[in-house]
Amino acid sequence: MASTAAAPAPYITSSLPYTHSLPQQHTTPPSYPYQHQHPHVDSSLFAQDDQQVELTLIDLQLLCQEDEAEIHKLLIAAKEWGFLQVANHGVSCKLLCEIAEQAYHAFTLPAEAKARAEPAAGSGYGYFTKQSGANGKRQQLSEAFRLPLNPEHRADVIIKLWPEGNKAFSSVVEEYIAAVESILLQLLRSFASGLGLDPLQFTHDLSKDGIFAVLRMNFYNASSQPLPSLAFQAHSDPPILTILHQNGVDGLQILKDNKWIAVKPQLGSFVVNVGDMLQVMSNDLYPSVIHRVVMKSDKFRSSLVLAATPHPQAIVRPAPQLVTEQRPSQYVPFTMEEYFSSLDSVEYSASKSHLNKFRSIPT
Ligand code: OGA
Ligand code: NI
Repeated sequence: MASTAAAPAPYITSSLPYTHSLPQQHTTPPSYPYQHQHPHVDSSLFAQDDQQVELTLIDLQLLCQEDEAEIHKLLIAAKEWGFLQVANHGVSCKLLCEIAEQAYHAFTLPAEAKARAEPAAGSGYGYFTKQSGANGKRQQLSEAFRLPLNPEHRADVIIKLWPEGNKAFSSVVEEYIAAVESILLQLLRSFASGLGLDPLQFTHDLSKDGIFAVLRMNFYNASSQPLPSLAFQAHSDPPILTILHQNGVDGLQILKDNKWIAVKPQLGSFVVNVGDMLQVMSNDLYPSVIHRVVMKSDKFRSSLVLAATPHPQAIVRPAPQLVTEQRPSQYVPFTMEEYFSSLDSVEYSASKSHLNKFRSIPT
């Protein structure tokens, strides 16, 4: 087994549809400074110094081999940044290419087809328009498909988009979910063992059928917007971990020391970030860091997010081994249901007020 991190995959070529700008739009990104072209630009959308950082690169094969130095690197990156990237993960370039292509086909379906897949009241799955936003209720520039991990429930969404079925889409999505799930489980094992916990500590309450275990496809098309444009507003992610794959068009920014830092997209790697649940389970050792997406060009951007939360009735609390006299529990126990209703009650999750409600010492 190779022990060095894989080189970034050269799998994006100009002949692939998802790297194209959408038809009938100008494809040249506006030249710097954007303000000259768009007098009403919100300069606060620029990242600090307009520079990009490269996230710490973690070699998944080394984690599989329980390499202590690599586990240590993982924990440090999670602690200091809440974000890292994973390479040498075994997911083929072909599959990454195919899923990006399938996402492109789904998002460029006629509006009527997408509208058929809009979720019924109370359902978190299906097609979410720009108005309803990628997280179901906040307005933003992205559209999203939220697909359940459960294959039968997923088929219910797919059939609404393609009444005749779509084997290529279904099988590529299934293969992608299986591949990314195994990355997720390995990372959770490494986090737990690095902390000296039972390796399954963070996976006990995960449920594939749980309504919040989801593959979300995001699609950003800024062609009709002034640039730069806030495409996904500042938020922290709810799950334990989020595993993100981007199509190579930049836009992700993370908030570090009160400054927005742009993340350099690395083709072929996955961005992994700590979600609110891991922040709680780790008793605040690992922060769930606030991030957003800012579009600076009208290139078509897509991303895939696999987010795994404990099931709705699971009780979430700091791992008992991480609660000491010096560091008492920072949270009162709560259920996922309680967490999501707290999240629903806030207009804007970037303050993390939804999570702070469960702090033992209210902030
Ligand atoms: C998200 C998210 C970032 C991206 O879906 O929660 O932060 O790059 N997405 O699309
Ligand atoms: Ni996010």
